Amino acid sequence: MAHEVRAVVARGKGAPVSLETIVVPDPGPGEALVKVEACGVCHTDLHYREGGISDDFPFLLGHEAAGIVEAVGEGVTEVEPGDFVILNWRAVCGQCRACRKGKPWYCFSTRNATQPMTLLDGTPLAPALGIGAFAEKTLVAAGQCTKVDPAAPAAAAGLLGCGVMAGFGAAVNTGAVGRGDSVAVIGCGGVGMAAIAGARIAGATTIVAVDVDERKLERARSMGATHTVNGTKADVVDSVRELTGGFGADVVVEAVGRPETYKQAFYARDLAGTVVLVGVPTPGMSLELPLLDVFGRGGSLKSSWYGDCLPSRDFPALIDLYRQGRFDLDAFVSETIGLEDVEKAFEKMRGGDVLRSVVLL
Ligand SMILES: NC(=O)c1ccc[n+]([C@@H]2O[C@H](COP(=O)([O-])OP(=O)(O)OC[C@H]3O[C@@H](n4cnc5c(N)ncnc54)[C@H](O)[C@@H]3O)[C@@H](O)[C@H]2O)c1
Ligand SMILES: [Zn+2]
Ligand SMILES: [Zn+2]
Repeated sequence: MAHEVRAVVARGKGAPVSLETIVVPDPGPGEALVKVEACGVCHTDLHYREGGISDDFPFLLGHEAAGIVEAVGEGVTEVEPGDFVILNWRAVCGQCRACRKGKPWYCFSTRNATQPMTLLDGTPLAPALGIGAFAEKTLVAAGQCTKVDPAAPAAAAGLLGCGVMAGFGAAVNTGAVGRGDSVAVIGCGGVGMAAIAGARIAGATTIVAVDVDERKLERARSMGATHTVNGTKADVVDSVRELTGGFGADVVVEAVGRPETYKQAFYARDLAGTVVLVGVPTPGMSLELPLLDVFGRGGSLKSSWYGDCLPSRDFPALIDLYRQGRFDLDAFVSETIGLEDVEKAFEKMRGGDVLRSVVLL
């Protein structure tokens, strides 16, 4: 049996998204059908809509979601109907060269559903990050479902499925922020804000938030930033150096995804420090740096795919921190909206009005 459900589709480069009826098949072997309860609007959805990720239109958008498993296919043992799950885009395969080296957070062959979801006319949809959860139901690989404590509300829990996990992990997993470290975070949207929260939990003692929007900086303070820098009013590199004894931060997280902010991150970092790029650039952007500075400043320049997370390890732990009152996931939910409001949510994101708009279904 196939399911006809309402969903948000991006049909062409730059065109507004549309609310459509799509067809979701029953789960086959290794797959799970999930009744979506909540799905956050991430900047990556907007990147998809603008053709910045690929040209595989039509896209089924949405990928920061939590919901209830409705049915599972043959051979599925990890989840069962009724389980409350966060959807992830890193269902590790266990067999690729990264998995075999014991680094499954880099898995190069992550699993997705094998059957396509389609438009009513049979056109296959490309689900954003292999999820596609701006939909009443979605079909994923069973490994994309991470079971967590249902005590967390779906709107907040779902955010762990992408942006919040990516930001938190960029600081804690990729950047390995530790006790007493100084950290700067450039770009304080949902991703950067989670990096700030992660840095605080990991024991960083100086946390500099950098943004071009005063509202974001205000919020960053309540997330754990000890200092803020408005990039439109002050020189970012000079300011971060001043706030870190003249040296620069041990770890700088770039959560914008632009060459100019990457350069700021590069030079706002102490000698032998770490730059973590978690912001996603778009095609055509390139970076020029004096090679002597790359060598002479030492340290490491890293990129963070999904915060180098392992969903089965990290999601339940972050839900525990939430339940203990140590990680305020609710603070990331700026508003809850309907499926028909995704286009408006993109506008609000562009205007800097929200940290996360979350679709409730
Ligand atoms: N690496 C990953 O796995 C991963 C996962 C999710 C999202 N992302 C990416 O992370 C980035 C941030 O996502 P988001 O959802 O937080 O986006 P967002 O739009 O909510 O936030 C971006 C923030 O950057 C700020 N900003 C813009 N230009 C700036 C500048 N020049 N200097 C300082 N701040 C500036 C904006 O004011 C805003 O607060 C996006 O590129 C997104 O695609 C990456
Ligand atoms: Zn693998
Ligand atoms: Zn995302």
